[in-house]
Amino acid sequence: MATYTWVMIFCCFFSITQTRRMYNNYQVIRAKPLTQRHVIQLHALEYNEKSCHQLDFWTSARAVRKTVDIMVPPTAKEYVALTLDMIGVPYHVLIDDVNEVIQTQRVSHSSKVAARGSNEDFFMFYHTIDEIKLFQDSLLSTYGNILSELEIGTSYEKQPMKVLKISTGGASDKKKIWFEGGIHAREWISPATVMYITNKFLEKYTSGSEDEVNFLTKYDIYILFVTNPDGYRWTWDNDRLWRKTRSPNEGSECVGTDPNRNWPFEWGGEGASEEPCSDTYRGSSATSEPEIESVVNFLKKLENLEMFIDFHSYSQLMLYPWGYASDLAPISNEEEVKKLGDATITAIEAVSGREYECGNTVELLYAASGASEDYAYSIGTRFSYVIELPDKGKYGFVLPEEEIIPTGEETYAGVMAAFRYLIEYT
Ligand code: ARG
Ligand code: ZN
Repeated sequence: MATYTWVMIFCCFFSITQTRRMYNNYQVIRAKPLTQRHVIQLHALEYNEKSCHQLDFWTSARAVRKTVDIMVPPTAKEYVALTLDMIGVPYHVLIDDVNEVIQTQRVSHSSKVAARGSNEDFFMFYHTIDEIKLFQDSLLSTYGNILSELEIGTSYEKQPMKVLKISTGGASDKKKIWFEGGIHAREWISPATVMYITNKFLEKYTSGSEDEVNFLTKYDIYILFVTNPDGYRWTWDNDRLWRKTRSPNEGSECVGTDPNRNWPFEWGGEGASEEPCSDTYRGSSATSEPEIESVVNFLKKLENLEMFIDFHSYSQLMLYPWGYASDLAPISNEEEVKKLGDATITAIEAVSGREYECGNTVELLYAASGASEDYAYSIGTRFSYVIELPDKGKYGFVLPEEEIIPTGEETYAGVMAAFRYLIEYT
């Protein structure tokens, strides 16, 4: 019996560790380009040396003095140090051992789960895709009077994609809002925050809170917690730092497409890779990914889409179109788009002091074609954004779950400021 138990433990331990990708002694380093030349050299490092040295640029080079976070495997440490020294880019270590951070969080998550009594502390935890589905079901049964669910399609691995709709009914030509989370699998704070916002909005509406009640008289809200459910599942079971979808690529060993290079607007241009092994692979065609196709088909049919927000992490930015190429003319309503964005980030800062920047995607970040906010804007959405949630790189994608509630709180304040702007000025 005792032997049997040990065998069980051993097998169990093995079946988990064996399939999980490890990041032992992977470092995240932060480099700071001091000249335009440095920016170009860092771009070259990202696009030329990435695959052979397995570098993962957690953030890309964007401008002079804007830092770049690079995850470096132990085998490439020397090469990267030499290269950066040679070109004269200063750098320091942000995370010394990525595996340790992941592992510490996993252990702390499990022990908290084991100790927890009720489901009340839902937002103290990150959740698996199955737990997220159960949470959605529980919202539906609690708020059935204003909440419904629409199945818009399935993922590559046949997971259902179900959108929540918050609506008090009435006129069908109400203006509409779209929020989506989890398009990039490893950005766990994104679905967590979108769930937090949804839950809080429903609670406050139900208790008669003025802003929420007011907003729903004029608007319907559509929410997708996890836009890339296959990738999200993969980050729990196999590779915490997976970004893409999980569809295979013909003629390549490498799996997955970057769903945020797969939208059917200006697909296949700047900042999107043709190489299936790249983390920014654009896919074999626009909407090659069923997840994106499902969302696109749904959005196309939605009339009066007024605001679209795609939640990502990390960097604390609020970005608006165009983002598909450098040197484009500003969008025609940039002024109001910037004002709504500024109202949002000011409200966030007022809660936590956390600093955000709001601006055009290319000016603040980099050009990337086939991305969500450009697509939404191209179909006539008046206010279209990408929000890059916290942090600014202390943990990057592996933000501890203790940050869910603070991030949820401040982002909620931001979203309500955006809603008030819509009510007041449009
Ligand atoms: N981090 C996001 C991504 O790489 C930002 C996308 C911003 N949009 C853009 N068109 N550049 O997908
Ligand atoms: Zn992202």
